[in-house]
Amino acid sequence: MLKGKHIILGITGGIAAYKSVVLLRLFVKAGAEIQVVITPSGKEFITPVTLSALSGKPVISEFFTANTGQWNSHVDIGLWADAMVIAPATASTIGKMANGIADNMLVTTYLSAKAPVFVAPAMDLDMMAHPTTTRNIEQLRADGCHIIEPGTGELASHLTGKGRMAEPEDILAEIERFFYNNKSLEGKKILITAGPTVERIDPVRFISNFSTGKMGYALADEASRRGAEVTIVSGPVDISPSERNIKVINVESARDMLSECEKAFPDCDIAVMCAAVADYAPKETAEKKIKRENSDRMQIELVKNPDISATLGRLKKENQLLIGFALETDNETENALRKIKNKNLDLIVLNSLNDEGAGFGKDTNKITIITAKDDIQSFPTKSKREVAVDILDFIETKLHPQ
Ligand code: PMT
Repeated sequence: MLKGKHIILGITGGIAAYKSVVLLRLFVKAGAEIQVVITPSGKEFITPVTLSALSGKPVISEFFTANTGQWNSHVDIGLWADAMVIAPATASTIGKMANGIADNMLVTTYLSAKAPVFVAPAMDLDMMAHPTTTRNIEQLRADGCHIIEPGTGELASHLTGKGRMAEPEDILAEIERFFYNNKSLEGKKILITAGPTVERIDPVRFISNFSTGKMGYALADEASRRGAEVTIVSGPVDISPSERNIKVINVESARDMLSECEKAFPDCDIAVMCAAVADYAPKETAEKKIKRENSDRMQIELVKNPDISATLGRLKKENQLLIGFALETDNETENALRKIKNKNLDLIVLNSLNDEGAGFGKDTNKITIITAKDDIQSFPTKSKREVAVDILDFIETKLHPQ
């Protein structure tokens, strides 16, 4: 897929720069032509000799080549590229890119590049979580950059948290996917629910669950990459889609989610119910904060929430597909089969909290897909992004959306 593609590999000054060597090798192996542009501090972490030996081209770092005075044109390199990949991208470079501070060759090249730009942040967890970094990353996203999310794990500081650069294999996969012109869902409208619902007890308290929206948003991104027109009806989450053309409708409670889904469903071809909807909500929401001094005990009467997928299942027309998820802790397959029937689903994606690496909040999931016609396929633990690919591949090949 990358054969003959021109890729600028931007390397900045972070410890993850050692992984860029692996990434460079993977790109070259995949047939791409690579021009490395490295910041001055990047060279403190990895030598240009290694990079030019692997890429077969002189590495560019300065505006002028010291001994010849030759000018390195950021405009020409920017125009040459089919893609620019900045990995690792430090907080400093991200900040410069977001604010147009073009004081090195890498950022000037970025500003000249017409091609899609992929940014793989890598930094310590506190830098990653800092509002400035969050704001700058959001700005890059708004400017059209593709952010390759960092992973969570042990960092160079020996602290553990979010900030590890995505693995080179995952970055390669992301770029390959981009060039893989699979528009198999073009013309299709897809509704996806994601995240938790929040059911208010009073103005400061609520009932909810641990869903982060990662699975639902990964599905939305993949469907959008395949050309679908995607709407996410999302409970409160801290993430946003990576793809630009996705419509997000934010809701809070199950009732709000139902009402938005009822509006969107008649017009859609496929609906995927990935949200973790609270099954019960307080019968009444107190207008004022319930005071603890008033009583030693507190009883909240809960009432059943509407079942969104079952409601859509009743409305479903022949040319529509309704996909559910089942999050189970016991009798997994039996429960999933029951849900297919009760909710009139075409297919259910089963994930079990008994499987390590599956379920809420994780970057990975382990799923079994079961269709209404008893076709069952289990998959190994994969990133949620890859799981989204598997689910959509399955839907496309086995259910043939009309
Ligand atoms: O968001 P993440 O942190 O990435 O986690 C992903 C996930 C674990 C939330 C996701 O993979 C998942 O399993 N989502 C469904 C969770 C769930 O509520 O499962 P359930 O078995 O209780 O519900 C079955 C199906 O009915 C689901 O499609 C659910 O969206 C739907 N439902 C449930 C209750 C309700 N009142 N209305 C519904 O539509």
